[in-house]
Amino acid sequence: MMMPANGHRAHGFSSAHFLDSDEIIQELNLNGNETVMDAGCGDGHNAIKILEDYNHKGLVYAVDVYDASIEDMNEYKNENNVENLINIEAYITKGIPGVEDDSIDVVLMVNVFHGFKASRTIDEAIEELKRIIKKDGKIAIMDYKAWDVPKGPPTPVRSSPSELEEFFNSHDLKKVYLNEEIGEDIPEGKSHYLIMFQKN
Ligand SMILES: C[S@@+](CC[C@H](N)C(=O)[O-])C[C@H]1O[C@@H](n2cnc3c(N)ncnc32)[C@H](O)[C@@H]1O
Repeated sequence: MMMPANGHRAHGFSSAHFLDSDEIIQELNLNGNETVMDAGCGDGHNAIKILEDYNHKGLVYAVDVYDASIEDMNEYKNENNVENLINIEAYITKGIPGVEDDSIDVVLMVNVFHGFKASRTIDEAIEELKRIIKKDGKIAIMDYKAWDVPKGPPTPVRSSPSELEEFFNSHDLKKVYLNEEIGEDIPEGKSHYLIMFQKN
């Protein structure tokens, strides 16, 4: 297994070894000076990639509820003298402290959303994401297709893109993009989809 960029202890939860970060981040069309959040960052490999290769002049937030994730991200920040990285240990569903309303251009969540379905906290999660993104800001959700296949979360906690659209529409967030051909090649096809919602 490939070690994540920051030698993270929680790499068992990381998608670094089976999803292509560049493929994901290029979907976001970043312009290099935006405020981007990797929400549920895990080992932070996507946040670090965004910082190092895509958003030099911008600001990156890495948020996770797992203390070791944030400790390791803080170690990366200190060792590499990175000023434009803010690491926050928090439950997305309970509110992310220190992040102002309407302050984030793009939120990326990779393999996190199904957890909200499992914990029945979808509405709380969407409300918090809606609070922090700017007007015209985007929330990009990448998750496993709602297929009954062995790899990934149990089928009942997976959502299809149209289910996600219903959840987000009920919070006045509109779908602006959907890619259903992304992720890992599995016998059934591409493992994931990436869907984006916008606040108007
Ligand atoms: C499957 S891992 C994915 C990590 C990373 N996004 C990746 O693709 O490698 C899910 C991550 O979401 C975090 N997480 C789950 N629920 C969360 C919540 N309510 N608030 C913050 N982080 C959460 C977990 O601690 C874990 O690090």
